[in-house]
Amino acid sequence: MSSPQPGIPRHLAVIMDGNGRWAERRRRPRAVGHRAGARAVNVCIDFCIDTGIEALTLFAFSSENWGRPEDEVGALMKLFLNALEREVDELDRRGVRVRFIGERGRFNEAIRARMDAAETQTAANTRLHLSVAASYGGRWDIANAARSLAADVAAGRLRVEDIDEAALGARTALADLPPPDLFIRTGGDTRISNFLLWQLAYTELWFTETLWPDMDAVTLQRAVDDYAARERRFGLTGAQIAQPSNGMPTTGTPSNGLTE
Ligand code: IPE
Ligand code: IPE
Ligand code: MG
Repeated sequence: MSSPQPGIPRHLAVIMDGNGRWAERRRRPRAVGHRAGARAVNVCIDFCIDTGIEALTLFAFSSENWGRPEDEVGALMKLFLNALEREVDELDRRGVRVRFIGERGRFNEAIRARMDAAETQTAANTRLHLSVAASYGGRWDIANAARSLAADVAAGRLRVEDIDEAALGARTALADLPPPDLFIRTGGDTRISNFLLWQLAYTELWFTETLWPDMDAVTLQRAVDDYAARERRFGLTGAQIAQPSNGMPTTGTPSNGLTE
């Protein structure tokens, strides 16, 4: 796999928002917007492959989205199942490794089985690491990591004094990837909505009014260009960053599965 390219994020995280409004503006049911949003996912995957972005994490369905009207949740479940049935072979052919993060137990058996099968089928691919956050919440993720730490302490495998950021971070989702470099939210709202709370600590944030179904390569390129022009300081001074000998901080950056 290629080494990091200057100005290109290695890991892009996206909140795909605005499907409902896209449909409402056309006086169509919200489910039509979700179907149009599924097409935009492919645009985004192609952009990442063409640009050399190595990891893409997409927020598809939040822990809180279960509270939406039953017919909308039902339509989304149907869409997930269809997408899992139709898209996985093509993703595999394009060298995409797919995995799902979130509370999988809340999905029905058919969807869970397809998720497992998609992960197994694409496990050896390395061109793009695609993580789909479904039934995912940042708070769930951190609580899950805390539960895992507590279980290890209770079983005598871990001492309380050994609990630190690295130990907790290693138990959160995506721990084997570098944290996202760039975060994009479409749909005009400027909030995190319980996405990757732990992993976004030093991510560059970028927001656009564009509704997710209208997402295209031009808009994605604007986000990447903006990212490339930013100075990431990680708590250091601008002068330290300009002098690489003083170094980028290495602590807190998990080892990652991208440089192989
Ligand atoms: C994002 O679009 C998709 C999901 C949350 C599943 P929305 O459905 O939130 O669209 P808006 O924000 O209502 O327009
Ligand atoms: C965030 O969008 C979740 C996804 C895009 C999957 P929401 O539409 O659920 O977020 P809020 O409700 O506007 O914060
Ligand atoms: Mg929304």
